Order: sequence, then C-alpha cells, then structure tokens
Amino acid sequence: MSSPKHFLDIADLDTATLSSILSSARAMKDRRKGLPKGLREAGEPLKGRMLALIFERPSTRTRVSFEVGMRQLGGETLVLTANDMQLGRGETIADTARVLSRYVDAIMIRAARHSNLTELAAAASVPVINGLTDLTHPCQVMADVMTLEEHAGPLKDLTVSWVGDGNNVAASWIQAVGMLGGRLRIAAPAELAPAPGVMDWARARGADVRLTTSPEEAVRGADCVITDAWVSMHDTDAASRHNLLQPYQVNARLMRHAKPDARFMHCLPAHRGEEVTDEVMDSASSLVFDEAENRLHIQKSILLHCLGA
Ligand code: CP
Ligand code: NVA
Repeated sequence: MSSPKHFLDIADLDTATLSSILSSARAMKDRRKGLPKGLREAGEPLKGRMLALIFERPSTRTRVSFEVGMRQLGGETLVLTANDMQLGRGETIADTARVLSRYVDAIMIRAARHSNLTELAAAASVPVINGLTDLTHPCQVMADVMTLEEHAGPLKDLTVSWVGDGNNVAASWIQAVGMLGGRLRIAAPAELAPAPGVMDWARARGADVRLTTSPEEAVRGADCVITDAWVSMHDTDAASRHNLLQPYQVNARLMRHAKPDARFMHCLPAHRGEEVTDEVMDSASSLVFDEAENRLHIQKSILLHCLGA
C-alpha cells in the first residue's frame, strides 16, 4: 500500500508541488469571487470524503477555514477536542491514528507537541495535515505566501522581514523561503532566535535567510514586515518574553525603516498594543484579514493535493 500524502511541513514537499498548491488556491479563489460562502464547488471534488479535525489547542481561523473549505469541496468534517477523546486519558497517538484511519479519509491536527503530529502521521493510513504545532505552522505560511504574492508579486523577488519571537510561524517562513526563494531577514532576541535546526537547514540549502537582534536592521528595505504573538499557546514564560520582546514591537516608527509601500502581516490572533500597534494593524498596508481569508483557499488546495482529487 502506498503511503498517504501528508502535509506536515513545507520543507517536506518539492518546490513544484508547493507552486502548484499555490496556483490552484489562486484559481479557486478567483472562481468564487462574489459567490455565497456556503456554495459548493462545481463537481464537489471531495464529495463523500470525511475530514477529522483534532484540536489539542484552541483555534478560530484554522477550525472555521477547514470546516468551510471542506464543505465547499463537497466533503464533511468532524471536530474532535483532544480532551474529550480517550487521547486525553492516555490512549496513544498511534492507536488513535489507526482507529481514526478506519473512520475518516483525512486528519488535520493542531498538536500540542510536534512529535504528536509526526507520531500520528507515522501510524495513520490516511493523509495527516499539520494545523500548527509548537514548532511549525505550514498552512498559515502557505496562506501568507499566497497573500503576499497577490499584493507584491513573486516571493523570489521580495524581502520579507520577521520581527519578534523566532517561533513556529517563523520556522515555517524559513522553510518557505528555503523552498520558494526570496530574502528573509529575522530580528529576534538571542534567547528567542529560531531553532538552530531550521536555521542549519536553510543554510545548507543556500537560502537567503539572515538573523540579527536589531529590528531596524531586519526591516531595512523590506517589502513586508511580519510579526506574531510574544507568547504562543505552548509558552509558559510570559513575563520574561514580554521583557525580551518589548523592543520588537511593530509600530509606525519601525515601519518607516521598511520600503515606503511595505506591507504588514500577522497570522492572528493579534495582541494589539503588544507585538503590533493599532496604527499598523489597521493601516492601508496591513494584509492581516486577506491572510485570514486565504487560509480557506490554500487549505482547500492542500486538501485536494492530499486526497488526490
Ligand atoms: N492563525 C491561526 O492559526 O489562527 P487560529 O489559532 O485562530 O486557528
Ligand atoms: N505562534 C502562535 C500562532 C497562533 C496561530 C501560537 O503558536 O500560539
């Protein structure tokens, strides 16, 4: 039996496949312009397919965009909260994967630990999709790349600046630039720099990814400035993160170091007044709600890729 087509991380796919997922998402988005959100795609390519969504952490965008996307493709979803499953009482991830594989055609998991995702994928006989772990958030960054390219052209020609915590979203951005091209400038305090593993991977690929502790230096000449929460869902050291990240707030003063038409992105949820000011979030250059919308389009494309439809 051939192994299922998982979507675990951007670096696991080849560049041609990533590009084709992006272009199919763009085409589906274009075709739906002005149509009701509940309308199904012509031909209902995932009719009869069932997607399980496992949440070990809370979610607004990931849950709603997967549920709506699957319905638009003609399929159905089941939302499972880890604490309400036997998983929460110690049933192994591997056994859960084997059982769910008998009921559903694909599984999306928002996992508390990256190893939960990889264990699930190793034991599942159906495709598994990463809906965020402590280490990466590939669906988000695929939506981010789609959004930035809509507004600023091909990623390979752009300079993207990441300011703040070198977290899960930053790691997927490093992978995206490694696979798709472009320049990534990361400003993070030394204590919160991206994990050495992903930086080594980028270096070995010859990706144009640079790390500094200076937000001004990272933002200089950028086409887009990106940030994220100072305290992610899995973090426990909130007070020290607030102290370390205070100088990394994205505000109008910092944006002045970027190109005059530089865009701003944030995966949301945002903590206004912390990592970003209202002024930047609500400015004409902010793409945050386009990013949220594009989660829907890109994940439909990822589902079609994984389910071979
Ligand atoms: N950006 C994102 O993944 O949002 P949720 O946590 O609401 O799913
Ligand atoms: N870095 C954030 C992203 C939330 C979508 C977190 O992991 O909480």
